[in-house]
Amino acid sequence: MNRRRATLVPLGLAILAGGAVAVALGEGDLSPAEQKAARAAEEKALALGGKVFTDPSLGTAERSCSTCHDNPQKPQLSLKGVVSRFPRWDRDAGKVITLQQKFVQMQERSLKAKKTLPLGDDRWNALEMHLRGLK
Ligand code: HEC
Repeated sequence: MNRRRATLVPLGLAILAGGAVAVALGEGDLSPAEQKAARAAEEKALALGGKVFTDPSLGTAERSCSTCHDNPQKPQLSLKGVVSRFPRWDRDAGKVITLQQKFVQMQERSLKAKKTLPLGDDRWNALEMHLRGLK
């Protein structure tokens, strides 16, 4: 085994042992401080996402996303698993749209918002985290 191979093999094993996160980042492992910051940021986003889901101030119709999408009378409107169904073709838009574009469409149409949140807004990102976590 030459020198280069000798260093590459243990590196590969370390990435395998580190699991999906290290592989997805592709830049080695996060430092413990970064891991802590990442966890704190994600937990904060998850909590914010839950609030966004139930926030009537996103529109003017005195209802929130949860009015329709967390309604025991309408189990077919549950958003469980929705994160993996987008991007996809949308009838209203007449084209392929992302999940956040669907959020904006809903905010406009179902919550009667006068002004919609921009794509990539922290609140939409947090809502995605919340919906991914739905069991
Ligand atoms: C008045 C009831 C109502 C409210 C309020 C509402 N929605 Fe919807 N939503 C629907 C209905 C009905 C559909 C299915 C028809 C469609 O796709 O337009 C839907 C579809 C969706 C879908 C696609 C679901 C899937 O399985 O493909 C997403 C995502 C979504 N809504 C998100 C939201 C978000 C985010 C909010 C709040 C900003 C919201 N909705 C508010 C009624 C509502």
